[in-house]
Amino acid sequence: MSLLEARDIVAGYGETEILHGVSITVEKNQIVTIIGPNGSGKSTLLKTIFGLLRPKQGSVRFNGEDITGTPPETMVRKGLCYVPQSSNVFPSLSIHENLEMGAFVRKDDYSQRIREVYDLFPDLIKRKNDRAGTLSGGQRQMLAVARALMVDPVMLLLDEPSAGLAPNLVASVLQIIIGINQAGVAILLVEQNAREALKLSSRGYILASGQNQLEDDGNKLLNNPDVARLYLGG
Ligand SMILES: Nc1ncnc2c1ncn2[C@@H]1O[C@H](COP(=O)(O)OP(=O)(O)OP(=O)(O)O)[C@@H](O)[C@H]1O
Ligand SMILES: [Mg+2]
Repeated sequence: MSLLEARDIVAGYGETEILHGVSITVEKNQIVTIIGPNGSGKSTLLKTIFGLLRPKQGSVRFNGEDITGTPPETMVRKGLCYVPQSSNVFPSLSIHENLEMGAFVRKDDYSQRIREVYDLFPDLIKRKNDRAGTLSGGQRQMLAVARALMVDPVMLLLDEPSAGLAPNLVASVLQIIIGINQAGVAILLVEQNAREALKLSSRGYILASGQNQLEDDGNKLLNNPDVARLYLGG
């Protein structure tokens, strides 16, 4: 049984159909990357998986259960968390308060978890009482990921966690993603830094114009000359 299975998803905004039957599968503990041109529907796919958009057709299964169109809060309780492409922290709250917000569905004592999450992100603990709005772009992305980790998820949906970051920061964000995955969290990653993302992925999907274009092992996509020319900048 696959961990996440989105089948033949048709979805969009109002009358506008963006995804025309997209399918994607993530196995337990995998990192899977979705690449594709701007506007191809990558963010729309993550939003649909997470229940922010209800698909017109198709289904989403998580851990063997049909979760199609389930509200995001229920998704989080089931262990599926989502970090959006932007506006993913509360700028006027402190870093510590942002992490507490991340634990909102938890009824248990999460003080141990908050320590574990700070251990993963040493930059954040130094600034735990500062407002999130004062963080650099890279630190803000780290905080958004850290916040999602507060519920101890089974799987993370990450929409361009390295967007807008300097190359050295891209590497450290991706390194953190590897660390999270090694701790047992499956990752579905949307990335513009396609080459770097595919290197750390077991599988990759290319999405174009709201349709599956190609899917293969990460390293096979990297070594495919057509993929390199069309989607990896040569
Ligand atoms: N809230 C919205 N309402 C209407 N149309 C939208 C909305 N969000 C996205 N779209 C449209 O849906 C299409 C797919 O957008 P989406 O954000 O899913 O693409 P993407 O692959 O994530 O692009 P990018 O690489 O730029 O992040 C685009 O044509 C976009 O203009
Ligand atoms: Mg997007």
